Amino acid sequence: MTLAITVIGTGYLGATHAACMAELGFEVLGVDVDPAKVDALSRGELPFHEPGLPELLRRHVDSGRLRFTTSYAEAGAFGDVHFIGVGTPQRPGQYGADLTYVDAAVTALAENITRDALIVGKSTVPVGTARRLAGLVQEHRAHDVEIGLAWNPEFLREGFAVKDTLAPDRLVIGTDDDGRAEAVLRRVYAAALETGTPFISTDLETAELVKVAANAFLATKISFINAFSEVTEAVGGDIRTLADAIGHDARIGRRFLNAGVGFGGGCLPKDIRALQARVSELGLDRSMRFLGEVDEINARRRDRVVHLAEQMAGPLAGRTIGILGTAFKPDSDDVRDSPALDVAARLFNAGADVNVYDPQANANAAKRFPRLNYVDSLTQAATGADLVILLTEWAEFKALAPADLAGLVAHRRLIDGRNVLDPATWEAAGWDVAALGRRAVPDGSAPETAPRTAAPSLEPLPHRPGGPRDLMAAGTAH
Ligand code: UDX
Repeated sequence: MTLAITVIGTGYLGATHAACMAELGFEVLGVDVDPAKVDALSRGELPFHEPGLPELLRRHVDSGRLRFTTSYAEAGAFGDVHFIGVGTPQRPGQYGADLTYVDAAVTALAENITRDALIVGKSTVPVGTARRLAGLVQEHRAHDVEIGLAWNPEFLREGFAVKDTLAPDRLVIGTDDDGRAEAVLRRVYAAALETGTPFISTDLETAELVKVAANAFLATKISFINAFSEVTEAVGGDIRTLADAIGHDARIGRRFLNAGVGFGGGCLPKDIRALQARVSELGLDRSMRFLGEVDEINARRRDRVVHLAEQMAGPLAGRTIGILGTAFKPDSDDVRDSPALDVAARLFNAGADVNVYDPQANANAAKRFPRLNYVDSLTQAATGADLVILLTEWAEFKALAPADLAGLVAHRRLIDGRNVLDPATWEAAGWDVAALGRRAVPDGSAPETAPRTAAPSLEPLPHRPGGPRDLMAAGTAH
């Protein structure tokens, strides 16, 4: 008999997981407390941008295999397996994760489950949460049924969410029983297991930690290369060549060594902060202290772009700046903790006229920072610009040639915040170019009104006792 699956929380992670479970042949019920979201999904409409997911959603809503509800009673009567995919955002003004939504979901399930079932956490949580939730389940269990609890962290990347869910590079499950939960999850993931996907079965705590360890490593890798950017900028080296050269060492690897304006999004920043908060509770502050540096290096890249803008274009008040990109990465409309939007907002706050274009994320950006001038095309963003800054490496920006912008801009000045354009080509076409970690401010680029700077000076380390300096709130999680 096929398993009936519910997915609690139909945000980024949950909606993807629900549609992919239906694709695998299961009967699926998505549950969310937001009736508007449930209505939209029930009509087959996806409230965010994710390649490949709208087709999957529509197909299985049409087939009837995928339904959505706000009712926990319906979910509790329906599911053999209940996946928890609600958000665990950063608590306002603190580093720790807000577990309100996870606790509420597990409690509501326990109160409503009327048949033997397994609850499987997918949300990213501080270590120790799963064991606590198992207690919560027993406390709130309202019917004489067996309810198991397992943890199955999710590693999906935005932009590749469908592929990462249907063909993950590994499956990790944490359990605390005699093997029953593992047997159920082997049935859920049978298709991936048949293709040889590594399956790691462990305890609850290790499973929780695997997820944050992976994200902490990725964030560290990015900040590692960005720290070297500060050095190559100071001495006139080239960070891309450096990354290519060390990346050939198989022990290091080239991926996630792309220097630029740094990491953002709904996961990496909040996860490294929540991990620091959690180890601090455990009395182990020193173990993860380096993640504070990782966060600061990341924040300094944003400062650096603002500083470069001033060096190249002069005092920012009244300057027209064209911003290419607001999403935290390409192929996404997500602006949570986006370096691109943060930089755009800071330039605006410094008095610049900021024209912003992103192929997908402008609507979300406008909700978060409404006062920027959002435009509908690359051409509009560049028109009349004293400076153009590329901050998200969308394909249409990577394909830019100097001639595309030459007739539009007021001054040929470019900052490549993602190291995706060839500085030499642009310089040959008469542009002043700064690329993070590659080109310092070129000689003669600073206008008369701005102080000339022969070599870029490194910013002093910002003192950040109060946590992230991002202008925007950390936002909600998946
Ligand atoms: C991340 C993890 O990769 C994923 O496994 C986890 O489940 C959720 O968090 P995601 O947030 O979708 O996924 O984005 P990711 O592709 O990891 O990129 C994160 C940020 O790092 C982006 O802002 C990206 O621009 C930046 N980045 C990435 C770099 O600055 N340089 C790089 O080399 C790679």
